[in-house]
Amino acid sequence: MKKIPLIAGNWKMNKSNSEAIKFIETLSQRIDSFKGLIYLAVPFTCIQEAAKVSDKIIIGAQNMNDAQKGAFTGEIAALMLKEVGAKFVILGHSERRQLFHESDEFIHKKVLRAIKDGLQPILCIGETLQEREEQMTEDVLKSQLQKALKDLSNEDLFNLIIAYEPIWAIGTGKSATANIAQEAHLFIRNTLTNLFDENVAQKIYILYGGSVNADNINSLMQEPDIDGVLVGGASLEVESFLKIIKNLG
Ligand code: PGA
Repeated sequence: MKKIPLIAGNWKMNKSNSEAIKFIETLSQRIDSFKGLIYLAVPFTCIQEAAKVSDKIIIGAQNMNDAQKGAFTGEIAALMLKEVGAKFVILGHSERRQLFHESDEFIHKKVLRAIKDGLQPILCIGETLQEREEQMTEDVLKSQLQKALKDLSNEDLFNLIIAYEPIWAIGTGKSATANIAQEAHLFIRNTLTNLFDENVAQKIYILYGGSVNADNINSLMQEPDIDGVLVGGASLEVESFLKIIKNLG
């Protein structure tokens, strides 16, 4: 059975606090009839105000450190995010993995910390173009899952979201076809079934991310293992985000 659809926007390093508030207020007036879940990962500086003005929209962060607190100049802790109103955090986004050299081990520690300190993790995984061309997609996804979810219990997994984001599709305008995405999602779900209870694996949300827009959302959402989407570029304008929301299901 299909889950309630979930759309998460990832603003990356875009929007000032005032721009964020304006966006959320405008969007909020136009989503009354939408029955799904709307998440927005905003810059740290917008979380507090955004959470205050968000009624139907769930506000979260795009990154955090694995430590609870301490001498880590420039870093931010889960409890700090939670206190100002963040409910979730994106972890292991490919931009963090590639541009900031985050390892699977570091991401694993962040997942543990987020769960311990009460933030819902959205764990991103995905292969590069080269890995896909070399038929390594499944090996990469399996290894990323095994490493990030090591030592987690069925209970820990209950609140976790996975985002399948093929790196070649992010910000390129070249979305995965619905078939390609479904194939990867099914593989992820089967891997989760091997690692955890089948029931847990069935319940977990698996989002697709990578050049999602108003044109490809319908076909993606028709696939049985695509429970929602993670949207970058098209989440920056109210109109383009709304078009996706309206076609989500
Ligand atoms: P995109 O980004 O929608 O701009 O491809 C997706 C993401 O990075 O999460």
